[in-house]
Amino acid sequence: MLDKIKEIRQKVDSLQADSLEAIEALRIEYLSKKGLISSLFADFRLVPNDQKKEVGQLMNELKQLATQKINDLKLSLDEVQTADSGLDYTLPGAPVNLGSRHPISLIKNEIIDIFIRLGFNISEGPEIEDDWHVFSALNFPEEHPARDMQDTFFIQSNPDILLRTHTSSVQVRVMENNTPPIRTISPGRVFRNEAISARSHCIFHQVEGLYIDENVSFADLKQTLLYFAKEMFGHDTQIRLRPSYFPFTEPSAEMDISCTLCGGKGCNVCKYTGWLEILGCGMVDPNVLESNKIDKEKYTGFAFGMGVERIAMLRFGIKDIRLFFDNDIRFLSQFKAAH
Ligand code: PHE
Repeated sequence: MLDKIKEIRQKVDSLQADSLEAIEALRIEYLSKKGLISSLFADFRLVPNDQKKEVGQLMNELKQLATQKINDLKLSLDEVQTADSGLDYTLPGAPVNLGSRHPISLIKNEIIDIFIRLGFNISEGPEIEDDWHVFSALNFPEEHPARDMQDTFFIQSNPDILLRTHTSSVQVRVMENNTPPIRTISPGRVFRNEAISARSHCIFHQVEGLYIDENVSFADLKQTLLYFAKEMFGHDTQIRLRPSYFPFTEPSAEMDISCTLCGGKGCNVCKYTGWLEILGCGMVDPNVLESNKIDKEKYTGFAFGMGVERIAMLRFGIKDIRLFFDNDIRFLSQFKAAH
């Protein structure tokens, strides 16, 4: 028995193979169930008891040695093959380009952060809406032009269902489900049936805000928006409110900021006026409070709405809104972070 072990051990030591098939054949010859080493184990019961310890140990060593040898043969075969393939595995890998955030997301998140600092929360709602949430609850008269086919994408089979033209619809949903104080902003995509040009698109993004509580005044609106303008465009920024009209606010205003390029002196960005229009706002019309079952004697509120694309164009100096929707990587990869 000892001789037999010695003999197999010598053979194992000098095993050679130059292909996977040859290695497999060796594995079968030595290590398979009917292989040379396994048959030694089968004969183990014939070993006299006083030798069992020594022989058993040698047999286990032999088995380990053979397993190791066959693995080594496989490894060295792999090395030969890689060397043959002509590939240099020490070369550095191909660079992995990190993605970057879309400029609209960057600016949208910045707007959100500013209003969160002021205690606003975020509300979201459906892009496919009904007439009530987009128009009727917001005091749009039946014949208002915004309801017109020209501006609104309707669902053909049901003119009561449409793509929201502003995220004020989300604020109606907030008023339905909450009682004042309400202090919320609603970011989201909106849709308008407009010709696509450098300045307008049929899809864009808005952040609208709503604040309802007791004793909310126009001064609160102005101060909130001044804070926003300074945070977004820099602390030297000034604002100007011009009278305007929206069905859901009274009084209504449009807000301009001092030109981000010339600071108010006049340049071709502000068309030599010194001012840039950036959002619409106003005090919530009592009719809107009433439609949404909020006590209009007790509560007042303000609302505002801005286009994210417009703000991003001013912040980044982008002249064509269509760039945001082309998904051209050469454009998108330029925006690593705002500020
Ligand atoms: N909803 C308006 C728009 O889409 C913006 C706005 C919101 C104006 C709130 C006034 C108050 O243009």
